[in-house]
Amino acid sequence: MQYFSGRFKEKADDLILDFHSSIKFDKRLYRYDIMGSIAHVRGLGKQNIIKMDESKKIEETLREILEEMDQGKIEFSIEYEDIHMNVEKILIDKIGDLGKKLHTGRSRNDQVALDMKLFAKDEVKKIQSYTVELIEILMDFAKNNKHTYMPGFTHLQKAQPISFSHYVLAYVEMFRRDYERLENSFKLMNTSPLGSAALAGTTYPLDRNYTSEILGFSNPTWNSMDGVSDRDYLLEIMSDLSIIMVHLSRFSEEIITYCSNDYGYIELSDAFSTGSSIMPQKKNPDAAELIRGKSGRVIGDMTGFFTTMKGLPLAYNKDMQEDKEAFFDVVDSVKGCFTVFNGMVKTMTVNKDKMYNACKHGYINATDVADYLTEKEMSFRDAYKLTGAMVSYGIDNKKALDDFSMEEFHKFSKLFQKDIYEKISIKYCVEKRTTLGGPGSESVTKHMENVEEFLSQAIKSLKGYKLNSIL
Ligand code: ARG
Repeated sequence: MQYFSGRFKEKADDLILDFHSSIKFDKRLYRYDIMGSIAHVRGLGKQNIIKMDESKKIEETLREILEEMDQGKIEFSIEYEDIHMNVEKILIDKIGDLGKKLHTGRSRNDQVALDMKLFAKDEVKKIQSYTVELIEILMDFAKNNKHTYMPGFTHLQKAQPISFSHYVLAYVEMFRRDYERLENSFKLMNTSPLGSAALAGTTYPLDRNYTSEILGFSNPTWNSMDGVSDRDYLLEIMSDLSIIMVHLSRFSEEIITYCSNDYGYIELSDAFSTGSSIMPQKKNPDAAELIRGKSGRVIGDMTGFFTTMKGLPLAYNKDMQEDKEAFFDVVDSVKGCFTVFNGMVKTMTVNKDKMYNACKHGYINATDVADYLTEKEMSFRDAYKLTGAMVSYGIDNKKALDDFSMEEFHKFSKLFQKDIYEKISIKYCVEKRTTLGGPGSESVTKHMENVEEFLSQAIKSLKGYKLNSIL
């Protein structure tokens, strides 16, 4: 069968059909394609471009097709190239010539641009929900671990003590930004390309504001050439999602480190761990590793599509069809990773003793010794140097700073008094850091109040969004 116009005399070669057909992967857009067609056909009826009863009949049949597709009753054919032509063909098979009116004043170029936007909007909302779910899980850890002290690291060397709450709240901030980044992208992309037609709009009196509104967009796009060729929003969402993967990957890396034998700060549940086929003692954090690994794949998809887009002239070019597999793979990977990551984190246990004991060795209260001397009016630089000498003495004599006797402290400075022991205790070191954003429980509590407010707004906004609005 030759689908295109009478211009073609020869039948398409099977090779070319297979090569440029996208139905294998764009069939997953069927719901959005039908939503777009329903809006378009309602618009055609409303503007008397076709009769109202014709519009109603087409909509009714499109809904029927949707139901059959939902039930898996429909077989797609590569002969009809993509989801748009497949749906149209099925419609024409069902209602004959009337079905041929659906494509009046429309091109596959604005159709595909619309379908991808509708799909992307729903995916953004779904992924925002995963970020909120993870933030809630982390907030539970934050609530229960304000006084669970652990070493904070720089260069993966023990640096200064913090609390486990403060640690997980750093990730809360990353995932909160991820949520907001997606929110910004959503706002920017929320414009309807429908009515841009092939590239130059159409002579039919379409009401683009009407179709935009019933599909849940904030307004129609302002330029028909841009309308059909804009893929910025896919690049932007893929960038947002790459950043999310970087966050999940960094967190995974730390989980892998922290559940390793030598650290033992946390333990993953058996349900989220794997064994070895040869070493019976092994309990491996494979899930965290795979998530760390998948970050490369997502960043690769994003980079690939950036490269596809960068040399394209206006307006539509078939290269753009490459957006689909890349974007589908990105959203599937991110959702898959979140599902496993959230479950893994939710079920992990915190080994408070191991964390606390790790604070004891490694001189992580050295800054506090220097601060103590500075409080007694020594300049910070002198105090810093003197404390360095104390650390060196401690290393040589295998002694933590807290284990120095009073005589040993006095060997270095007479400014030390008995209160030094309290002032360099791990608890004190953490709790006195009450500046905004610091690890002291007072600051942590303030931060958490702010996050709670964010969460209640985000949850409300996600609940208010209707997936597949026109259906
Ligand atoms: N399958 C195509 C895509 O995904 C749909 C648009 C085709 N338009 C065209 N003029 N060939 O981009």
